[in-house]
Amino acid sequence: MANELLKGKRGIIFGALNEMSIAWKVAEQAHKQGAKFVLTNAPIAMRMGEINKLAEATNSQIIPADATSEEDLENLILKAQEILGGKIDFILHSIGMSPNVRKKKHYTDLNYKWYQTSLDVSAISLHKTLSIAMKHDAISEWGSVVALTYIAAQRIFPDYSDMADAKSLLESITRSFGYHYGLKNKVRINTISQSPTVTTAGSGVEGFDKFINYSEKMSPLGNAGAVDCANYCVSLFSDLTKYVTMQNLFHDGGFSSTGVTTEVMDKF
Ligand SMILES: NC(=O)c1ccc[n+]([C@@H]2O[C@H](COP(=O)([O-])OP(=O)(O)OC[C@H]3O[C@@H](n4cnc5c(N)ncnc54)[C@H](O)[C@@H]3O)[C@@H](O)[C@H]2O)c1
Repeated sequence: MANELLKGKRGIIFGALNEMSIAWKVAEQAHKQGAKFVLTNAPIAMRMGEINKLAEATNSQIIPADATSEEDLENLILKAQEILGGKIDFILHSIGMSPNVRKKKHYTDLNYKWYQTSLDVSAISLHKTLSIAMKHDAISEWGSVVALTYIAAQRIFPDYSDMADAKSLLESITRSFGYHYGLKNKVRINTISQSPTVTTAGSGVEGFDKFINYSEKMSPLGNAGAVDCANYCVSLFSDLTKYVTMQNLFHDGGFSSTGVTTEVMDKF
């Protein structure tokens, strides 16, 4: 499926850690559709060197940036334009991390320093990226920014802990910045609310194995996979979705609209 939907477009893709990462699949699909982009991730996440394989396969360069550091983000925004030869047409924010989830702190007894880290890495990093991009007028007219989120922003999923709060904030930043950037330069900003997906971040949530099966049975189409999520991202980066902005878009096989299914009922 190479339709050159992104031909001539320049992008920044955050969050490709390994082959399982949703961002990895987005890079592969965007490459197939003719996009040029730079890859970025936290310097610490690059120690394994996995990302080099993706850079080679997609003919792209890597710019390390800790998404909580304004200095790193400014360097990223400026360097990406230099490397790609112009303004940025699309950005994928595919970043999530909670020390409380990692260290199994219960939601009712959070470590507040870690809580701030969860919000900073997983949500405020989007605000920082957009704010710096706006200051440098780095995103083209009709540019498109997509961040990945999860339905725990709207409903309680107990083991998702403080990541739920981070995702709520991420979705709110998407609406608020989407308003301001839309007015200023017709830049559109959306979140995609993805099904549970086997990745490093996803599998870090307690009980993920059982949960992904439950979600599969609760979704009329089944769980949406990473490659399909990548294709949805491509459609939002393309000119075919120009008037979609400030939305939280469910890419979940119908999970979000399903109360119960017979398959789940039969278990009782
Ligand atoms: N996997 C799922 O079930 C699922 C479901 C819905 C939404 N999401 C979201 O999708 C996004 C991508 O996650 P994934 O599932 O592909 O897992 P992943 O672990 O492959 O990706 C998470 C990425 O965040 C990066 N990151 C962490 N701290 C960072 C920092 N300080 N600076 C820059 N990058 C940093 C990691 O290095 C990693 O590349 C996340 O926002 C996640 O919450 C995942």
